[in-house]
Amino acid sequence: MALKFISAEEAASLIKHDDNVGFSGFTHAGCPKVVPVEIAKRAEEEHAQGKPFKIGVFTGASTGDSIDGSLARAKAIKFRTPYQTNKDMREALNRGEFDFFDLHLSQLAQEIRYGFLGRINVAVVEAADVTESGEIVPTTGVGITPTICRLADIVIVELNKKVPTKLRGMHDLYELQDPPKRREIPIYEVQNRVGLEYVKVNPEKIFVVETERDGEGGGFAPLDEVTARIGNNVAEFFVAEMKAGRIPPHFLPIQSGVGNIANAVLGSMGSNPDIPRFEVYTEVIQDAVIDMMQKGNISFASGCSLTVSNEVLEKFYSDLPFFKNKLVLRPSEISNNPGLARRLGIIALNTAIEVDVFGNVNSTHVNGTKMMNGIGGSGDFTRNSYLSIFLTPSTAKNGAISCIVPKVTHEDHNEHSVKIVVSEYGVADLRGKGPRNRAEEIINKCAHPDYRPLLHEYLNLGVKGHIPQDLYSCFAFHHALSETGSMLHTDFSKYRR
Ligand code: COA
Repeated sequence: MALKFISAEEAASLIKHDDNVGFSGFTHAGCPKVVPVEIAKRAEEEHAQGKPFKIGVFTGASTGDSIDGSLARAKAIKFRTPYQTNKDMREALNRGEFDFFDLHLSQLAQEIRYGFLGRINVAVVEAADVTESGEIVPTTGVGITPTICRLADIVIVELNKKVPTKLRGMHDLYELQDPPKRREIPIYEVQNRVGLEYVKVNPEKIFVVETERDGEGGGFAPLDEVTARIGNNVAEFFVAEMKAGRIPPHFLPIQSGVGNIANAVLGSMGSNPDIPRFEVYTEVIQDAVIDMMQKGNISFASGCSLTVSNEVLEKFYSDLPFFKNKLVLRPSEISNNPGLARRLGIIALNTAIEVDVFGNVNSTHVNGTKMMNGIGGSGDFTRNSYLSIFLTPSTAKNGAISCIVPKVTHEDHNEHSVKIVVSEYGVADLRGKGPRNRAEEIINKCAHPDYRPLLHEYLNLGVKGHIPQDLYSCFAFHHALSETGSMLHTDFSKYRR
Protein backbone atom coordinates (compact mmCIF):
# COMPACT_ATOMS: atom_id res chain seq x y z
CA MET A 1 0.00 0.00 0.00
CA ALA A 2 1.10 3.58 -0.61
CA LEU A 3 2.66 5.31 2.37
CA LYS A 4 0.76 8.24 3.93
CA PHE A 5 2.88 11.41 3.93
CA ILE A 6 1.83 14.16 6.36
CA SER A 7 3.33 17.34 7.85
CA ALA A 8 4.94 17.43 11.30
CA GLU A 9 2.04 19.59 12.51
CA GLU A 10 -0.49 17.01 11.29
CA ALA A 11 1.55 14.29 12.97
CA ALA A 12 1.45 16.15 16.28
CA SER A 13 -2.33 16.45 15.98
CA LEU A 14 -2.57 12.63 16.04
CA ILE A 15 -1.38 12.69 19.66
CA LYS A 16 -3.95 13.23 22.40
CA HIS A 17 -3.65 14.55 25.94
CA ASP A 18 -2.70 11.69 28.30
CA ASP A 19 -1.28 9.48 25.52
CA ASN A 20 1.88 7.50 26.13
CA VAL A 21 4.35 8.22 23.35
CA GLY A 22 7.42 6.09 22.62
CA PHE A 23 10.31 7.78 20.83
CA SER A 24 13.11 6.06 18.91
CA GLY A 25 16.78 6.56 19.54
CA PHE A 26 19.28 6.44 22.31
CA THR A 27 21.04 9.60 23.56
CA HIS A 28 20.60 12.24 20.84
CA ALA A 29 21.35 9.55 18.26
CA GLY A 30 18.41 8.25 16.25
CA CYS A 31 15.83 10.50 17.90
CA PRO A 32 13.05 12.24 15.98
CA LYS A 33 13.63 15.99 15.86
CA VAL A 34 10.68 17.68 14.18
CA VAL A 35 7.51 16.01 15.45
CA PRO A 36 8.39 16.38 19.18
CA VAL A 37 8.90 20.13 18.69
CA GLU A 38 5.44 20.30 17.09
CA ILE A 39 4.00 18.30 20.02
CA ALA A 40 5.53 20.87 22.39
CA LYS A 41 3.99 23.74 20.37
CA ARG A 42 0.65 21.97 20.45
CA ALA A 43 0.90 21.61 24.25
CA GLU A 44 1.61 25.33 24.62
CA GLU A 45 -1.40 26.19 22.43
CA GLU A 46 -3.70 23.88 24.40
CA HIS A 47 -2.41 25.28 27.72
CA ALA A 48 -3.01 28.84 26.45
CA GLN A 49 -6.67 27.88 25.93
CA GLY A 50 -6.84 26.47 29.46
CA LYS A 51 -6.90 22.87 28.24
CA PRO A 52 -4.69 20.09 29.66
CA PHE A 53 -2.05 18.51 27.41
CA LYS A 54 0.56 16.20 28.88
CA ILE A 55 1.99 12.96 27.59
CA GLY A 56 3.99 10.03 28.91
CA VAL A 57 7.47 10.00 27.31
CA PHE A 58 9.20 6.64 26.79
CA THR A 59 12.61 6.53 25.12
CA GLY A 60 15.67 4.30 24.86
CA ALA A 61 17.77 6.57 27.08
CA SER A 62 18.44 10.31 27.06
CA THR A 63 17.41 12.20 23.91
CA GLY A 64 18.25 15.37 22.03
CA ASP A 65 16.93 18.78 23.03
CA SER A 66 14.10 18.44 20.47
CA ILE A 67 12.43 15.85 22.68
CA ASP A 68 13.44 16.34 26.31
CA GLY A 69 14.20 20.06 26.16
CA SER A 70 11.16 21.10 24.08
CA LEU A 71 8.66 18.97 25.96
CA ALA A 72 10.00 19.95 29.41
CA ARG A 73 9.94 23.67 28.56
CA ALA A 74 6.37 23.33 27.24
CA LYS A 75 5.31 21.53 30.46
CA ALA A 76 3.99 18.77 28.21
CA ILE A 77 5.17 15.78 30.27
CA LYS A 78 3.11 13.72 32.71
CA PHE A 79 5.61 10.85 33.05
CA ARG A 80 9.15 10.19 31.86
CA THR A 81 11.33 7.08 31.77
CA PRO A 82 14.08 5.69 31.73
CA TYR A 83 16.98 8.24 31.57
CA GLN A 84 17.66 11.89 30.69
CA THR A 85 20.58 14.30 30.48
CA ASN A 86 18.81 17.50 29.43
CA LYS A 87 19.26 20.56 31.68
CA ASP A 88 15.63 21.78 31.40
CA MET A 89 14.25 18.28 31.87
CA ARG A 90 16.52 17.72 34.88
CA GLU A 91 15.43 20.96 36.53
CA ALA A 92 11.75 20.23 35.86
CA LEU A 93 11.90 16.73 37.31
CA ASN A 94 13.83 17.94 40.36
CA ARG A 95 11.07 20.54 40.88
CA GLY A 96 8.66 17.59 40.92
CA GLU A 97 6.75 18.72 37.80
CA PHE A 98 6.29 15.11 36.67
CA ASP A 99 7.08 11.60 37.73
CA PHE A 100 10.44 10.29 36.54
CA PHE A 101 11.00 6.54 36.69
CA ASP A 102 14.74 5.72 36.74
CA LEU A 103 15.13 2.23 35.30
CA HIS A 104 17.89 -0.09 34.07
CA LEU A 105 17.83 0.53 30.33
CA SER A 106 17.80 -3.15 29.38
CA GLN A 107 14.49 -3.55 31.21
CA LEU A 108 12.33 -0.90 29.61
CA ALA A 109 11.21 -2.81 26.49
CA GLN A 110 10.13 -5.82 28.52
CA GLU A 111 8.42 -3.72 31.21
CA ILE A 112 6.39 -2.08 28.44
CA ARG A 113 5.52 -5.51 27.00
CA TYR A 114 4.61 -6.86 30.45
CA GLY A 115 2.11 -4.00 30.79
CA PHE A 116 3.85 -2.59 33.90
CA LEU A 117 3.89 0.96 32.53
CA GLY A 118 0.61 1.31 30.64
CA ARG A 119 -0.04 1.16 26.89
CA ILE A 120 2.07 2.88 24.26
CA ASN A 121 -0.41 4.77 22.08
CA VAL A 122 1.90 6.37 19.54
CA ALA A 123 5.47 5.66 18.41
CA VAL A 124 7.53 8.46 16.83
CA VAL A 125 10.67 7.10 15.20
CA GLU A 126 13.42 8.51 13.05
CA ALA A 127 14.26 6.42 9.99
CA ALA A 128 16.84 6.30 7.22
CA ASP A 129 14.35 4.43 5.05
CA VAL A 130 10.76 3.20 5.11
CA THR A 131 9.11 0.95 2.53
CA GLU A 132 5.50 0.48 1.40
CA SER A 133 5.57 -3.00 2.95
CA GLY A 134 6.30 -1.44 6.37
CA GLU A 135 10.04 -1.98 6.75
CA ILE A 136 11.52 0.82 8.87
CA VAL A 137 15.31 1.24 8.91
CA PRO A 138 16.34 3.21 12.02
CA THR A 139 19.07 5.85 11.90
CA THR A 140 21.96 6.03 14.38
CA GLY A 141 20.23 4.94 17.59
CA VAL A 142 17.83 2.10 18.34
CA GLY A 143 16.74 1.96 22.00
CA ILE A 144 13.21 0.56 22.30
CA THR A 145 12.22 1.10 18.64
CA PRO A 146 11.15 -2.50 17.78
CA THR A 147 8.88 -2.76 20.82
CA ILE A 148 7.18 0.63 20.53
CA CYS A 149 6.63 0.19 16.78
CA ARG A 150 4.98 -3.19 17.31
CA LEU A 151 2.78 -2.13 20.22
CA ALA A 152 1.70 1.40 19.24
CA ASP A 153 -1.59 2.06 17.43
CA ILE A 154 0.09 4.70 15.25
CA VAL A 155 3.72 4.85 14.07
CA ILE A 156 4.92 8.28 12.95
CA VAL A 157 8.12 7.89 10.93
CA GLU A 158 10.42 10.92 10.60
CA LEU A 159 12.19 10.04 7.38
CA ASN A 160 15.44 11.98 7.66
CA LYS A 161 16.87 12.63 4.19
CA LYS A 162 20.19 13.72 5.72
CA VAL A 163 20.85 10.11 6.74
CA PRO A 164 22.10 7.83 3.94
CA THR A 165 19.70 5.00 3.07
CA LYS A 166 22.84 2.88 2.82
CA LEU A 167 22.71 2.67 6.61
CA ARG A 168 20.46 -0.34 5.94
CA GLY A 169 22.40 -3.40 7.05
CA MET A 170 24.04 -1.68 10.04
CA HIS A 171 21.33 -2.79 12.49
CA ASP A 172 20.51 -6.12 14.09
CA LEU A 173 16.93 -5.78 15.34
CA TYR A 174 15.61 -8.50 17.56
CA GLU A 175 12.91 -8.46 20.24
CA LEU A 176 12.99 -10.90 23.13
CA GLN A 177 10.11 -13.25 23.71
CA ASP A 178 8.47 -12.91 27.09
CA PRO A 179 8.51 -15.56 29.81
CA PRO A 180 7.65 -18.40 29.95
CA LYS A 181 8.61 -18.64 26.25
CA ARG A 182 11.93 -16.78 26.41
CA ARG A 183 14.93 -18.60 24.92
CA GLU A 184 18.60 -17.78 25.11
CA ILE A 185 19.82 -15.02 22.77
CA PRO A 186 22.03 -16.77 20.19
CA ILE A 187 24.86 -14.24 20.45
CA TYR A 188 28.03 -16.06 21.43
CA GLU A 189 30.53 -13.58 19.98
CA VAL A 190 30.30 -9.81 19.77
CA GLN A 191 29.85 -9.77 15.99
CA ASN A 192 27.03 -12.38 15.86
CA ARG A 193 23.77 -11.19 14.29
CA VAL A 194 20.41 -12.64 15.25
CA GLY A 195 17.75 -10.26 13.92
CA LEU A 196 16.58 -8.18 10.98
CA GLU A 197 18.04 -5.09 9.30
CA TYR A 198 14.72 -3.28 9.77
CA VAL A 199 11.65 -3.17 12.02
CA LYS A 200 8.59 -4.64 10.29
CA VAL A 201 5.34 -2.82 11.01
CA ASN A 202 1.83 -3.09 9.59
CA PRO A 203 2.06 -0.31 6.93
CA GLU A 204 -1.54 0.74 7.62
CA LYS A 205 -0.49 2.30 10.91
CA ILE A 206 2.47 4.24 9.46
CA PHE A 207 2.44 8.01 8.80
CA VAL A 208 5.57 9.52 7.25
CA VAL A 209 6.96 13.00 7.92
CA GLU A 210 9.89 13.90 5.66
CA THR A 211 12.70 15.86 7.29
CA GLU A 212 16.24 16.92 6.62
CA ARG A 213 17.91 17.45 9.97
CA ASP A 214 21.47 17.30 11.23
CA GLY A 215 22.26 15.26 14.33
CA GLU A 216 22.16 17.00 17.72
CA GLY A 217 25.55 15.74 18.93
CA GLY A 218 27.91 18.17 20.63
CA GLY A 219 31.62 17.46 20.78
CA PHE A 220 33.72 16.18 23.65
CA ALA A 221 35.63 18.45 26.03
CA PRO A 222 39.38 18.62 25.38
CA LEU A 223 41.33 16.14 27.49
CA ASP A 224 42.30 17.66 30.86
CA GLU A 225 45.04 16.37 33.12
CA VAL A 226 42.76 14.56 35.59
CA THR A 227 40.86 12.75 32.83
CA ALA A 228 44.10 11.81 31.07
CA ARG A 229 45.54 10.38 34.30
CA ILE A 230 42.40 8.31 34.92
CA GLY A 231 42.70 6.97 31.36
CA ASN A 232 46.35 6.05 31.83
CA ASN A 233 45.65 4.38 35.17
CA VAL A 234 43.00 2.18 33.54
CA ALA A 235 45.25 1.26 30.62
CA GLU A 236 48.16 0.36 32.94
CA PHE A 237 45.83 -1.67 35.14
CA PHE A 238 44.70 -3.67 32.10
CA VAL A 239 48.29 -4.38 31.09
CA ALA A 240 49.10 -5.62 34.61
CA GLU A 241 45.97 -7.80 34.65
CA MET A 242 46.97 -9.37 31.34
CA LYS A 243 50.48 -10.05 32.61
CA ALA A 244 48.98 -11.68 35.73
CA GLY A 245 46.77 -13.87 33.53
CA ARG A 246 43.52 -12.42 34.89
CA ILE A 247 42.53 -10.99 31.51
CA PRO A 248 43.04 -13.41 28.60
CA PRO A 249 45.76 -12.49 26.04
CA HIS A 250 43.17 -11.81 23.29
CA PHE A 251 41.45 -9.41 25.73
CA LEU A 252 37.70 -9.18 26.46
CA PRO A 253 34.92 -6.95 25.09
CA ILE A 254 34.79 -3.49 26.62
CA GLN A 255 31.67 -1.63 27.71
CA SER A 256 32.39 2.01 28.27
CA GLY A 257 29.98 4.49 29.79
CA VAL A 258 28.97 7.92 28.63
CA GLY A 259 30.92 11.17 28.70
CA ASN A 260 34.39 12.60 28.54
CA ILE A 261 36.05 10.23 31.01
CA ALA A 262 34.87 7.09 29.20
CA ASN A 263 35.93 8.60 25.88
CA ALA A 264 39.39 9.42 27.31
CA VAL A 265 39.88 5.94 28.79
CA LEU A 266 39.32 4.35 25.39
CA GLY A 267 41.81 6.81 23.89
CA SER A 268 44.43 5.79 26.50
CA MET A 269 43.81 2.12 25.74
CA GLY A 270 44.37 2.83 22.05
CA SER A 271 47.69 4.54 22.65
CA ASN A 272 49.05 1.82 24.96
CA PRO A 273 51.13 -0.59 22.81
CA ASP A 274 50.71 -3.45 25.32
CA ILE A 275 46.92 -3.60 24.88
CA PRO A 276 45.96 -5.77 21.91
CA ARG A 277 43.20 -5.00 19.41
CA PHE A 278 39.94 -5.46 21.24
CA GLU A 279 36.17 -5.52 20.69
CA VAL A 280 33.51 -3.28 22.12
CA TYR A 281 30.12 -4.53 23.36
CA THR A 282 28.52 -1.45 24.82
CA GLU A 283 25.50 0.81 24.71
CA VAL A 284 26.94 4.08 23.34
CA ILE A 285 29.60 4.11 20.66
CA GLN A 286 31.40 7.43 21.16
CA ASP A 287 33.93 9.37 19.07
CA ALA A 288 36.99 7.50 20.39
CA VAL A 289 35.60 4.14 19.18
CA ILE A 290 35.17 5.36 15.61
CA ASP A 291 38.66 6.81 15.60
CA MET A 292 40.15 3.61 17.05
CA MET A 293 38.31 1.44 14.53
CA GLN A 294 39.85 3.46 11.72
CA LYS A 295 43.29 3.15 13.33
CA GLY A 296 42.81 -0.59 13.85
CA ASN A 297 42.82 -0.61 17.67
CA ILE A 298 39.21 -1.81 17.83
CA SER A 299 38.22 -4.70 15.58
CA PHE A 300 34.43 -4.71 16.09
CA ALA A 301 31.87 -2.53 17.88
CA SER A 302 28.39 -3.55 18.96
CA GLY A 303 26.23 -0.86 20.52
CA CYS A 304 22.78 0.68 20.76
CA SER A 305 23.74 4.06 19.33
CA LEU A 306 26.36 6.05 17.51
CA THR A 307 26.62 8.86 20.02
CA VAL A 308 29.21 10.85 18.14
CA SER A 309 29.82 14.50 17.35
CA ASN A 310 28.42 15.74 14.02
CA GLU A 311 31.96 15.94 12.67
CA VAL A 312 32.64 12.27 13.41
CA LEU A 313 29.20 11.32 12.06
CA GLU A 314 30.08 12.89 8.69
CA LYS A 315 33.34 10.92 8.72
CA PHE A 316 31.39 7.74 9.46
CA TYR A 317 28.84 8.33 6.66
CA SER A 318 31.59 9.00 4.14
CA ASP A 319 33.30 5.71 5.02
CA LEU A 320 30.22 3.45 5.39
CA PRO A 321 31.61 0.44 3.44
CA PHE A 322 34.56 0.29 5.89
CA PHE A 323 32.24 0.16 8.93
CA LYS A 324 29.52 -2.11 7.45
CA ASN A 325 31.01 -5.39 8.64
CA LYS A 326 32.67 -3.95 11.75
CA LEU A 327 29.81 -2.26 13.57
CA VAL A 328 26.28 -3.23 14.57
CA LEU A 329 23.47 -1.31 16.27
CA ARG A 330 21.02 -3.27 18.43
CA PRO A 331 17.97 -2.57 20.65
CA SER A 332 18.81 -1.72 24.28
CA GLU A 333 17.41 -5.01 25.59
CA ILE A 334 20.14 -6.76 23.55
CA SER A 335 23.02 -4.26 23.79
CA ASN A 336 22.56 -4.07 27.57
CA ASN A 337 21.40 -7.62 28.17
CA PRO A 338 22.64 -8.86 31.57
CA GLY A 339 22.87 -12.47 30.33
CA LEU A 340 25.03 -11.44 27.38
CA ALA A 341 27.26 -9.27 29.59
CA ARG A 342 27.94 -12.34 31.71
CA ARG A 343 28.34 -14.70 28.74
CA LEU A 344 30.64 -12.47 26.71
CA GLY A 345 32.77 -11.56 29.74
CA ILE A 346 32.38 -7.84 29.37
CA ILE A 347 34.71 -5.45 31.18
CA ALA A 348 32.43 -2.66 32.38
CA LEU A 349 33.74 0.89 32.71
CA ASN A 350 31.34 3.42 34.19
CA THR A 351 31.59 6.78 35.94
CA ALA A 352 30.47 7.53 39.50
CA ILE A 353 29.23 10.70 41.15
CA GLU A 354 30.59 9.49 44.50
CA VAL A 355 32.05 6.28 45.88
CA ASP A 356 32.15 5.37 49.55
CA VAL A 357 35.11 3.89 51.33
CA PHE A 358 33.43 0.47 51.42
CA GLY A 359 32.90 0.34 47.65
CA ASN A 360 29.30 1.45 47.21
CA VAL A 361 28.64 3.76 44.27
CA ASN A 362 26.23 6.63 43.69
CA SER A 363 25.79 7.26 39.95
CA THR A 364 22.61 9.28 40.02
CA HIS A 365 21.72 11.60 42.91
CA VAL A 366 23.76 14.61 44.06
CA ASN A 367 23.50 14.77 47.87
CA GLY A 368 21.06 11.88 47.68
CA THR A 369 18.33 14.23 46.50
CA LYS A 370 18.93 15.88 43.11
CA MET A 371 18.72 13.60 40.11
CA MET A 372 21.62 14.04 37.73
CA ASN A 373 20.81 11.73 34.78
CA GLY A 374 19.74 8.29 35.94
CA ILE A 375 21.28 4.85 36.32
CA GLY A 376 21.29 4.29 32.55
CA GLY A 377 22.97 1.05 31.58
CA SER A 378 25.55 1.13 34.35
CA GLY A 379 23.64 -1.43 36.43
CA ASP A 380 22.95 -3.72 33.48
CA PHE A 381 26.69 -4.09 32.96
CA THR A 382 28.21 -3.63 36.43
CA ARG A 383 26.32 -6.45 38.14
CA ASN A 384 26.96 -8.91 35.33
CA SER A 385 30.38 -8.08 33.99
CA TYR A 386 33.60 -10.08 34.08
CA LEU A 387 35.13 -7.09 35.83
CA SER A 388 33.29 -3.95 36.93
CA ILE A 389 35.29 -0.74 37.08
CA PHE A 390 34.17 2.66 38.33
CA LEU A 391 35.97 5.82 37.32
CA THR A 392 35.86 9.07 39.27
CA PRO A 393 37.97 12.18 39.69
CA SER A 394 39.07 12.29 43.35
CA THR A 395 37.29 15.63 43.86
CA ALA A 396 34.63 17.83 42.27
CA LYS A 397 33.93 21.59 42.35
CA ASN A 398 37.59 22.63 42.69
CA GLY A 399 38.24 20.34 45.64
CA ALA A 400 35.24 21.41 47.76
CA ILE A 401 33.73 17.96 47.25
CA SER A 402 35.52 14.67 47.82
CA CYS A 403 34.16 12.03 45.44
CA ILE A 404 35.34 9.44 47.98
CA VAL A 405 33.05 9.75 51.02
CA PRO A 406 32.34 7.82 54.23
CA LYS A 407 28.90 6.84 52.94
CA VAL A 408 27.22 7.42 49.60
CA THR A 409 24.03 9.47 49.86
CA HIS A 410 22.28 7.25 47.30
CA GLU A 411 23.30 3.74 46.32
CA ASP A 412 23.07 2.52 42.73
CA HIS A 413 25.82 -0.12 42.74
CA ASN A 414 26.75 -1.88 45.92
CA GLU A 415 29.92 -3.37 47.40
CA HIS A 416 28.97 -6.80 46.02
CA SER A 417 29.19 -5.65 42.41
CA VAL A 418 31.93 -3.01 42.41
CA LYS A 419 35.36 -4.57 41.88
CA ILE A 420 37.74 -1.77 40.87
CA VAL A 421 37.70 1.98 41.52
CA VAL A 422 39.99 4.32 39.56
CA SER A 423 40.75 7.98 40.15
CA GLU A 424 43.56 10.17 38.86
CA TYR A 425 45.63 9.01 41.87
CA GLY A 426 45.45 5.28 41.31
CA VAL A 427 43.55 2.01 41.13
CA ALA A 428 41.80 0.45 44.14
CA ASP A 429 41.38 -3.29 43.73
CA LEU A 430 38.48 -4.43 45.93
CA ARG A 431 38.46 -8.06 44.80
CA GLY A 432 38.58 -10.54 47.69
CA LYS A 433 38.77 -7.84 50.37
CA GLY A 434 36.55 -7.30 53.42
CA PRO A 435 35.16 -3.85 54.33
CA ARG A 436 38.15 -2.51 56.32
CA ASN A 437 40.67 -3.57 53.70
CA ARG A 438 38.50 -2.16 50.92
CA ALA A 439 38.35 1.13 52.79
CA GLU A 440 42.15 1.31 53.22
CA GLU A 441 42.59 0.49 49.53
CA ILE A 442 40.13 3.14 48.31
CA ILE A 443 41.44 5.86 50.65
CA ASN A 444 45.12 5.20 49.93
CA LYS A 445 44.84 4.67 46.19
CA CYS A 446 41.95 6.88 45.03
CA ALA A 447 41.13 9.65 47.52
CA HIS A 448 42.67 13.08 47.10
CA PRO A 449 45.62 13.42 49.56
CA ASP A 450 43.89 16.40 51.24
CA TYR A 451 40.96 14.16 52.18
CA ARG A 452 42.88 11.04 53.23
CA PRO A 453 43.39 12.08 56.90
CA LEU A 454 39.65 12.81 57.32
CA LEU A 455 38.66 9.51 55.72
CA HIS A 456 41.11 7.60 57.95
CA GLU A 457 39.74 9.44 60.96
CA TYR A 458 36.25 8.22 60.02
CA LEU A 459 37.47 4.65 59.65
CA ASN A 460 39.11 4.82 63.06
CA LEU A 461 36.15 6.19 65.02
CA GLY A 462 36.10 2.90 66.86
CA VAL A 463 32.89 1.37 65.52
CA LYS A 464 32.81 -2.37 66.10
CA GLY A 465 31.39 -4.92 63.68
CA HIS A 466 31.98 -6.15 60.15
CA ILE A 467 31.51 -2.74 58.55
CA PRO A 468 32.83 0.14 60.69
CA GLN A 469 29.98 2.43 59.63
CA ASP A 470 29.24 5.19 62.13
CA LEU A 471 25.55 5.93 61.75
CA TYR A 472 25.87 9.30 63.55
CA SER A 473 28.60 10.79 61.39
CA CYS A 474 28.54 8.89 58.09
CA PHE A 475 27.16 11.99 56.33
CA ALA A 476 29.50 14.43 58.12
CA PHE A 477 31.25 15.22 54.81
CA HIS A 478 27.91 16.24 53.25
CA HIS A 479 26.87 18.26 56.33
CA ALA A 480 30.18 20.15 56.18
CA LEU A 481 29.61 20.87 52.49
CA SER A 482 26.15 22.32 53.07
CA GLU A 483 27.18 24.26 56.19
CA THR A 484 30.61 25.60 55.14
CA GLY A 485 30.86 25.09 51.37
CA SER A 486 33.61 22.48 51.62
CA MET A 487 33.89 18.88 52.77
CA LEU A 488 37.40 19.76 53.95
CA HIS A 489 35.82 21.41 57.00
CA THR A 490 34.38 18.12 58.26
CA ASP A 491 34.55 17.87 62.05
CA PHE A 492 33.79 14.38 63.36
CA SER A 493 34.01 15.56 66.99
CA LYS A 494 30.58 17.23 66.55
CA TYR A 495 29.02 13.79 66.31
CA ARG A 496 30.67 12.23 69.40
CA ARG A 497 28.22 10.59 71.78
N1 COA B 1 28.90 15.82 44.20
C1 COA B 1 28.30 16.84 43.53
N2 COA B 1 28.49 17.07 42.22
C2 COA B 1 29.35 16.27 41.56
C3 COA B 1 30.01 15.21 42.18
C4 COA B 1 29.76 15.00 43.56
N3 COA B 1 30.33 14.00 44.21
N4 COA B 1 30.77 14.58 41.27
C5 COA B 1 30.59 15.22 40.11
N5 COA B 1 29.74 16.24 40.29
C6 COA B 1 29.27 17.18 39.28
C7 COA B 1 30.40 17.77 38.47
O1 COA B 1 31.00 18.86 39.12
C8 COA B 1 29.68 18.18 37.20
O2 COA B 1 28.95 19.36 37.47
P1 COA B 1 28.75 20.49 36.35
O3 COA B 1 27.90 19.84 35.29
O4 COA B 1 28.05 21.58 37.09
O5 COA B 1 30.14 20.83 35.90
C9 COA B 1 28.64 17.05 37.02
O6 COA B 1 28.49 16.45 38.32
C10 COA B 1 29.07 15.97 36.03
O7 COA B 1 30.32 15.52 36.41
P2 COA B 1 31.47 15.18 35.36
O8 COA B 1 32.73 14.99 36.14
O9 COA B 1 31.46 16.17 34.24
O10 COA B 1 31.07 13.74 34.91
P3 COA B 1 30.35 13.09 33.68
O11 COA B 1 29.80 14.05 32.71
O12 COA B 1 31.28 12.06 33.24
O13 COA B 1 29.08 12.42 34.39
C11 COA B 1 27.85 10.89 35.72
C12 COA B 1 29.20 11.59 35.49
C13 COA B 1 28.01 9.94 36.88
C14 COA B 1 26.78 11.93 36.06
C15 COA B 1 27.47 10.14 34.39
O14 COA B 1 28.49 9.26 34.04
C16 COA B 1 26.17 9.36 34.56
O15 COA B 1 25.10 9.90 34.39
N6 COA B 1 26.26 8.06 34.91
C17 COA B 1 25.12 7.22 35.14
C18 COA B 1 24.69 6.51 33.91
C19 COA B 1 25.76 5.66 33.33
O16 COA B 1 26.70 5.25 33.99
N7 COA B 1 25.64 5.40 32.05
C20 COA B 1 26.60 4.63 31.32
C21 COA B 1 26.18 3.23 31.19
S1 COA B 1 26.76 2.52 29.71
